Amino acid sequence: MATAGKVIKCRAAVIWEAGQMPSLEEVEVAPPRAHEIRVKIVATGICRTDDNVRAGVFPNIDYPVIAGHEAAGIVESVGPKVTCVTPGDKVIPLCLAQCGECTSCLNPKTNFCLKIHFFQSQNLMPDKTSRFTCKGKQVYHFLWTSTFSEYTVMPEASIAKIDNAAPLEKVCLFGCGFSTGYGAAINSAKVEPGSTCAIFGLGGVGLSIIMGCKTAGASRIIGIDINKEKFAKAKELGATECISPNDFNKPIEKVLVEMTGLGVDYSFEAIGHIDTQVAALTSSRLDSGTCVLVGEPPSGLELSFAPELILCGRKLIGSLLGGWKSKEALPKLISDYLNKKCNPDALISHTLPFEKITEGFELLHAGKSIRCILMF
Ligand code: APR
Ligand code: ZN
Ligand code: ZN
Repeated sequence: MATAGKVIKCRAAVIWEAGQMPSLEEVEVAPPRAHEIRVKIVATGICRTDDNVRAGVFPNIDYPVIAGHEAAGIVESVGPKVTCVTPGDKVIPLCLAQCGECTSCLNPKTNFCLKIHFFQSQNLMPDKTSRFTCKGKQVYHFLWTSTFSEYTVMPEASIAKIDNAAPLEKVCLFGCGFSTGYGAAINSAKVEPGSTCAIFGLGGVGLSIIMGCKTAGASRIIGIDINKEKFAKAKELGATECISPNDFNKPIEKVLVEMTGLGVDYSFEAIGHIDTQVAALTSSRLDSGTCVLVGEPPSGLELSFAPELILCGRKLIGSLLGGWKSKEALPKLISDYLNKKCNPDALISHTLPFEKITEGFELLHAGKSIRCILMF
């Protein structure tokens, strides 16, 4: 392409300081270096995690930053030594890398690649430099994805090549929300046919968990949310009942245990609050229930509960990006979508031009959107 090897000037949303809304700017995006890929983003969703970056509740984020991690795009150019994609390929940025070489990547039991922000900052490329500048200032990356930019640079461990038939304005959801929820049910919990499930939080992630539970053959799927406007979609996607904690004068975990006898077989927390995490754990069957933590609470908080809760046999597990080994699994999941085996289209509540990113965040704050897709 004519732009290969050159700096590209393009539109991006820069969060200059924690607590500020993203600001539309023209940024310069440097060419990819060795083992890096520059991608033209076509569509990007707004996830709660992006809002947490905006609000400044995550540690280890450097500002100014370009957030965004749920997207789909087309390879513009590749740096030296890149072999996994060529310009023109359709791709999904991976918010959880798969380097293919670390001990986790070599272990079939986990998708927790060691090249992620728990171990090193992903605010700069692996060589500790940024590819973004704006108004003469260096701008930081986020999770090596930074998809709120028309062009972005990623290491090759953070990119998956997908079928060229995939509609980018839809499959962007596989970059985070859908894969996270669907995989939490299928891979992490391994929901069994005939089982009873409870899902705390009916945002994009919780609704995807519902779809996973339904696909796995769960016979009772109970959705829990304080916003009853979420119930209709949850039922459309497979919830058999929906309840609001505000409608009861006792704790929701007691309500769920009463509804099910001894508690649900599988409970999922997709809100990111400590209190609902404990409620989800307590709602699961005391002898054999599994509680899966999916939502990410603000850093610095600690979970506390009585040990008896798990001594009787409950399991408490966590799930990141639905347990999928991202680079190899997401292209297959997108093929399943193209073959109509799964379908997250119903999660897209709004589609806006990228310039309306502020409106997109406002819809999220008002609880009006499930997923708002921004189109470049
Ligand atoms: N009890 C029940 N439901 C609640 C409560 C509560 N105390 N507080 C909030 N909710 C509901 C909201 O009404 C909303 O419908 O939880 C839902 C959360 O949905 P979103 O904010 O759209 O979040 P989502 O994108 O689905 O992500 C959920 O997963 O990946 C993580 O960081 C992400 O922690 C976040 C979580
Ligand atoms: Zn790895
Ligand atoms: Zn996300």
